[in-house]
Amino acid sequence: MSEKVFAVAIDGPAGAGKSTIAKELSKKLGVIYVDTGAMYRAMALFLIRQGIKSSETEEISQKCEEADISISFENGQQVVTLNGENVNGLIRTEEVGNMASASSPNPDVRKKLVALQRKLASEKSVVMDGRDIGTVVLPNAKVKIYLTASSAVRAKRRYDELTAKGESCDIEKIEADIIERDHRDMTREISPLRQADDAVLVDTSDMSIAEVQERLLNICREKGCI
Ligand code: DC
Repeated sequence: MSEKVFAVAIDGPAGAGKSTIAKELSKKLGVIYVDTGAMYRAMALFLIRQGIKSSETEEISQKCEEADISISFENGQQVVTLNGENVNGLIRTEEVGNMASASSPNPDVRKKLVALQRKLASEKSVVMDGRDIGTVVLPNAKVKIYLTASSAVRAKRRYDELTAKGESCDIEKIEADIIERDHRDMTREISPLRQADDAVLVDTSDMSIAEVQERLLNICREKGCI
């Protein structure tokens, strides 16, 4: 990373509010927001289109080489391109999310996407969110935040989101899925989700979005980003 650019790394479990918070923070800091989950999702879409199943580890390792994933920014919005196609509108499905969860532990997938993430952060100042940004991708990030919330609160947020869209759902099942996903993310062999030693822990369970924003801005101020 050059002297002039800086990185804010935000890690944490699914549903902690990382992307909402990171997006806003990037605007306030005047830097780009890099959503690394979207890259794993684009890779997952590629693998699904290749007809590969989540259990086919060898095939994932071989085929991931053929996925050309790149990131650009239009009006400050991240655009994920897969082999020349803008796939922003195709990667937020349940099917893609499940494949991303199954294929992201693959070392070849990670090697490729981590290289892309590091390249982006070496060229421009970023707020980057994910699972391993502060621990693996950008260990020298100027600011590291570990954003979390209790599984019950995360389940309630997800439940409210789905019911607002008119979808019927069971909050207990949502919480059970969250607990299972946390366990998988935290115990996987490569780049498990964990708080970096020098990351600031922010538990958003009892905080409003505005309070979290304020807290993160203060942390960035203390570290000299603004
Ligand atoms: O944050 P998300 O749900 O969009 O992430 C999609 C999947 O990618 C999720 O299963 C976790 C994985 N992921 C990862 O392993 N490392 C990252 N830096 C970001 C996401």
